[in-house]
Amino acid sequence: MAAQQPKNLNGKTAIVTGSSRGIGAGIALDLAKRGANVVVNYTSTRGERAAAQLGKEIEECGAKVAIVQANIAIMEDLKKLIDAALAISVNGKVDILVHNAATGDDCYLEEMTEEFYEAQTDVNLKAPIFLTQLTLPHIARGGRIVLISSVSARMGMPQQTVYAATKAGLEGMCKVWATELGKKYDITVNCVSPGPVATDMWTECEPDVVAALQPSIDATPAAARVGEVSDIVPIVSFLCSEESRWVTGSTVSASGGMNFI
Ligand SMILES: NC(=O)c1ccc[n+]([C@@H]2O[C@H](COP(=O)([O-])OP(=O)(O)OC[C@H]3O[C@@H](n4cnc5c(N)ncnc54)[C@H](OP(=O)(O)O)[C@@H]3O)[C@@H](O)[C@H]2O)c1
Repeated sequence: MAAQQPKNLNGKTAIVTGSSRGIGAGIALDLAKRGANVVVNYTSTRGERAAAQLGKEIEECGAKVAIVQANIAIMEDLKKLIDAALAISVNGKVDILVHNAATGDDCYLEEMTEEFYEAQTDVNLKAPIFLTQLTLPHIARGGRIVLISSVSARMGMPQQTVYAATKAGLEGMCKVWATELGKKYDITVNCVSPGPVATDMWTECEPDVVAALQPSIDATPAAARVGEVSDIVPIVSFLCSEESRWVTGSTVSASGGMNFI
């Protein structure tokens, strides 16, 4: 029988952006299993059905769920996430904010357009900044912010000019927020940096990006494989818990050692 998660997030309220599929869905379900009420966010028709299914699984855990269609690149949509969180919150606060949603589209620099740059930075970088800003008036003491980065921030992978820059940006912001917001709001802010993980984002990568990463996958110290969602989720859940109170401003490498930090 599978071990049960401790109910160490009982009564907390969490927002997980981009949680209809992949890593975000895994995080949302695990937080619910630990007792948190969760805002599940999706943007596309593709995500709608998956979000509804996840919502059922979260309710089966005994947690409350709010399923919110919101394109986090659109400033007006961000408020929907806060409103939904406050509606399911037992203490009128947001305890946990996980910035997970991202687009991972690849593009050679010679082909880069302003539209591509803006579309990716709006989701990967602008949204976390302004969603955090909107959350601060409602954040609980002891609150937790977790940003999902990527090994791409440090690996210099071709075609990842914007993606790598946004992920490196999140790691920089994490440190700024840890110091700027830490004592003021009594919160911690941390990053998790996965290597390749078997989700739609990975399977939909350009073949030459996958080929360029294969030697690093083969040389991954923990095991010569890509990660699973279940490799990443417990690290995020730990950083959302009281037990992680003495960790802030950190980027935790969740890559099987593909990338040492
Ligand atoms: N998979 C990897 O290999 C890998 C490696 C390192 C880091 N990461 C990072 O891990 C995080 C999750 O990646 P993943 O692989 O799970 O991604 P994924 O399978 O592509 O899922 C992306 C999720 O984000 C949502 N999303 C995308 N754009 C959005 C927007 N504008 N507004 C709201 N939601 C949006 C999608 O919603 P819909 O279902 O509605 O489309 C979906 O729920 C990302 O930050 C990614 O950069 C992934």
